[in-house]
Amino acid sequence: MRILSGIQPSGALHIGNYFGMMQPAIALQAQGEAFYFIADYHALTTLHDPAALRENSRRLALDFLACGLDPEQGALFRQSDVPQVTELAWILSTVTPMGLLERAHSYKDKIARGMAASAGLFSYPVLMAADILIYGSDLVPVGKDQKQHLEIARDLALKWNDKFGDVLRVPEPYIQEKTETVPGLDGQKMSKSYGNTIDIFSDEKETRKRVMSIVTDSTPVDAPKNPDASVVFQLFSLFATAEEAAEMRAAFAQGGRGYGDFKKQFFGKLWRYFEPMRERRGEIIAQPGYIDEVLAKGANRANAIADEVMARVRNAVGLR
Ligand code: ADP
Ligand code: TRP
Repeated sequence: MRILSGIQPSGALHIGNYFGMMQPAIALQAQGEAFYFIADYHALTTLHDPAALRENSRRLALDFLACGLDPEQGALFRQSDVPQVTELAWILSTVTPMGLLERAHSYKDKIARGMAASAGLFSYPVLMAADILIYGSDLVPVGKDQKQHLEIARDLALKWNDKFGDVLRVPEPYIQEKTETVPGLDGQKMSKSYGNTIDIFSDEKETRKRVMSIVTDSTPVDAPKNPDASVVFQLFSLFATAEEAAEMRAAFAQGGRGYGDFKKQFFGKLWRYFEPMRERRGEIIAQPGYIDEVLAKGANRANAIADEVMARVRNAVGLR
């Protein structure tokens, strides 16, 4: 089984990325051939600052490794180290109905937030489909917001195969119900673009400040509180054992403790949870050249498969 996912190097990693995509991706790496990449071509749809793109890409590789990606098991690489993927995107775009892209939520949301409507932003899902199909991926771990993009990738594979023969494998999304949409500080989906994130590798002071700023209602300290309506409880549950979550649930229902108190408890849990990752991150930083080595090895593995699939694709459409 081949497992594949990508993430854009467009900002710091937050706990929504971690639970929605990274943790499932890392948990799957031993169950098949895993391919995880830094979607730098995709980031160009929103980031036109070469130094920042380079820096973010490196940092994302570092963070992915720190979070437990094992480069002996999975391949970690830059999307742009496999440039054939843009060729496949072009070939797929010739069978992509405009209407399919016009219905994409992600595009519509970005335009609604005032982003310029570039052709790259519009055809983003076609490049994403190419990313998935060029490696013959079976399973794609992502958060729920990527579900429609996965459906587009499946549609394009079926449409293309229908015309040119059975070359492209049709992928399945892998979306975990419990973590499909991690809420942010304000209760909306946690996202860089909403400024409501808790980042994994911020320093202690900033992380505490973020946790203490989670929006809560005005229920008095003594009164019982509804855990299911509280972001503090929802986030705590992601890190807690079933017993710990049940204890916090009971404490909410009982009353007598304020939200500030629950936030402190959540902060403690969160900070301890990422302790080993922070340590590993420090170790990687202390080994110059390690990240480049990992990325080069990953790119080799990825290219070997992409070349094979592209040879069949070119042959099928008549380019060779
Ligand atoms: P952002 O919305 O912060 O820009 P990205 O779009 O870069 O995040 O997402 C990278 C990966 O993390 C994707 O697989 C996405 O589904 C997942 N992800 C992002 N935010 C969340 C969230 N709040 N809950 C669950 N998964 C998320
Ligand atoms: N669009 C994804 C995101 O914003 C990143 C991505 C690009 C991706 N190509 C992919 C995810 C292929 C999974 C598979 O998070």
